[in-house]
Amino acid sequence: MNKVITKFEFNNDATLLTIYNCHDDYCEKLFDLKNPTLMTDIPNSLKACSNKNNTLALVLSVYNYSKTRKILYDQVEIDFDQSKYPNVFGPNIDTILFCYSFQKMISFPMFPITSFLEIGVGSGFISKYILEKKKNINSTLIDINPNSIEYNLTHFPNHHFQETNKYSYFNNFNKVYKSHDDKITLIHGDALILIDLIKTKQISRYDLIVCNPPYIPIDMEEDIESELDFNVVPKNFFQGTYLLRYILKNFENITNNCLLMGISSTSFCIPFVKNDLENLTIHNHIEILVERRVPLKVFDTELKIWIHDDENIKTFLTTHSKEKNNLGFESGCIIMDNILTHVVYVVKIQKK
Ligand SMILES: C[S@@+](CC[C@H](N)C(=O)[O-])C[C@H]1O[C@@H](n2cnc3c(N)ncnc32)[C@H](O)[C@@H]1O
Repeated sequence: MNKVITKFEFNNDATLLTIYNCHDDYCEKLFDLKNPTLMTDIPNSLKACSNKNNTLALVLSVYNYSKTRKILYDQVEIDFDQSKYPNVFGPNIDTILFCYSFQKMISFPMFPITSFLEIGVGSGFISKYILEKKKNINSTLIDINPNSIEYNLTHFPNHHFQETNKYSYFNNFNKVYKSHDDKITLIHGDALILIDLIKTKQISRYDLIVCNPPYIPIDMEEDIESELDFNVVPKNFFQGTYLLRYILKNFENITNNCLLMGISSTSFCIPFVKNDLENLTIHNHIEILVERRVPLKVFDTELKIWIHDDENIKTFLTTHSKEKNNLGFESGCIIMDNILTHVVYVVKIQKK
């Protein structure tokens, strides 16, 4: 029997997700999801199915999405099997919103990029998108999670990677790989170390840095140090704002031009993120390129709970003011139709 692959295709501004079952030589459209907020939004998918004629077959296909999924946006695609890489952040709605933001940004002709760095590359979809849309730029992709790097080694089809210790500073990382044309450097290591190396001028600054970091505060006591545990692979790729704040604090010393950063309204439940952003407004332009309200659906592997089921966390995230702050960001979560929701932002910070 032919292998069937479920394909998730987003329209230009990620307001429509079309799902297909693809056989070797043809794809059969299952249904459209308007304003998708999660990658595999089973309840809304089932609702979308119930409006169709062949309901039973469609409902069954929703429950039988293939393990390997094809994710497609603006002619860029990857095949990703979450069950093979369980703790790697697969392409999600905020990944696609990032690509959409990049597309908006490069539509301005005067945006020179010769180098870019992605911090926390995950499945690599954003980097692949940037590399396909902007040819001939040098890139560095880093993740603290070895499985993310293992996956990325295989999915840039025109690039073959080899482990290298070309520069002595590579010894600061677990593993470094270079593509055969020297264009892509893939690092398994801690981005905080990389940031320090750029800051101290051992590595050149990048024209563009993109990062969709963990962005949900974990610490009710606002204890900054408790978030500083980077010796282990993050158990949950959403939680803790330390990396986000470290990048903001060092922005001016690590980029020549611009940073694209993911932030959540929950990040503003602690004062630091807003303070760090406010400090940057003096010498830089800050612009929200995209914002989207989505369910906060995060599993805490340490506490073994869905964080939206924990009453303390829920109270912490919902008791903050929902007013937009002076920078234009909402704070915290609101409950809509019994679902805890937050706003994800893609923000551009650019030197004046
Ligand atoms: C929310 S995921 C984003 C993945 C991908 N960029 C995307 O948007 O689809 C955050 C990523 O940051 C990585 N990460 C977290 N802390 C890190 C650190 N200190 N250094 C490097 N990577 C880190 C995680 O392993 C995870 O892959």
